[in-house]
Amino acid sequence: MSPDTPATADTADKRALLDVLERLAGECESALGQASSLEDVEALRVEFLGRKGRLAQAMNAMAKLPPQDKPEAGKAANTAKAALAALLDAALETRKRAAAAAAFAGFDPTVPGRPPLQGSLHPVTLVMEEVCDILSRLGFSVVAGPEVENDWNNFEALNMPPDHPARDMQDTLYVTESILLRTHTSPLQVRSMLARKPPVAVIAPGKVYRRDSDLTHTPMFHQIEGLLVDTKTSMSDLRGVLAHVCRKLFGDDTRLRFRPSFFPFTEPSAEVDISCAICKGTGACNGTPCRVCKTTGWLEILGCGMVDPGVFAQVGYDPETYVGWAFGMGVERIAMLKYGIGDLRMFFENDLRFLGQFY
Ligand code: DAH
Repeated sequence: MSPDTPATADTADKRALLDVLERLAGECESALGQASSLEDVEALRVEFLGRKGRLAQAMNAMAKLPPQDKPEAGKAANTAKAALAALLDAALETRKRAAAAAAFAGFDPTVPGRPPLQGSLHPVTLVMEEVCDILSRLGFSVVAGPEVENDWNNFEALNMPPDHPARDMQDTLYVTESILLRTHTSPLQVRSMLARKPPVAVIAPGKVYRRDSDLTHTPMFHQIEGLLVDTKTSMSDLRGVLAHVCRKLFGDDTRLRFRPSFFPFTEPSAEVDISCAICKGTGACNGTPCRVCKTTGWLEILGCGMVDPGVFAQVGYDPETYVGWAFGMGVERIAMLKYGIGDLRMFFENDLRFLGQFY
């Protein structure tokens, strides 16, 4: 009887059935020789051991044997079943091993792993941390305030009542008529004076917002505010502190220049220039005109002045008793000069080739 012709009732004599059973394992083995994949092996398991498979068909035929022939046929069926199961299990195991080995082909376990990508601090953060570090050593406390600020802290208490023309330069996004994205860190002067009694010495780094967007302005940028209030201090203290900060940031040979200016919340007020860190104040680099300071040899980096008595009055400090000074510097500007970054937009493009250089 051919293996493809399963034992049926017509062929149900003992000899024929034993013959079928004896041949099953061999046939399975040769079929397995052609089965390369796990799926092929599973298909053969169904063909030989499945509910309607070859062994099951033989068992059906056995039911029709005369009772005295059944024990011998039953034994042969059990033997065939065990042999088939062993063959299929072993085949499955070797295919699994082969699949695993193939998955690791070319894998060299001795090659060192790739180091995980490590972040670095943003140049703006680095400058803020450095300035805070320098001023902390002089006794200033670092303070922070909300970026969504009220009109009074941002403008009114700083001598900029509604419709004051100085507001025009600092237009911003309004959340309501009196709540806005702060346009500078100067509201931290107001908040600090309201929260503390003199002497006050604080610095406030943070984000500020203005309706400004071109090659040299971004709608969000960073400032660092400084404020010192005491019974006795003067513009020369301010100058000394700023000179110290600038020399720590840009080198001991950095020179400072104070230009008279105007801010509503300081009187007198000044803008401070430092000697150009690129051309060392000469206006030229190796004979070519310095592009950074536009040959002037000077770079503007901050605004400052003596706290206006009107501001003291707003926060409840007696203007007859207290004096103070304040300054506000742009962080991106300082980072550009310190690290030689030519384009402001690079700070906010999140290009890792740029950011990865500031380890
Ligand atoms: N808040 C000013 C601005 O954003 C900068 C400034 C000028 C801050 C003078 C000060 C200061 O504290 O005294 O333009």
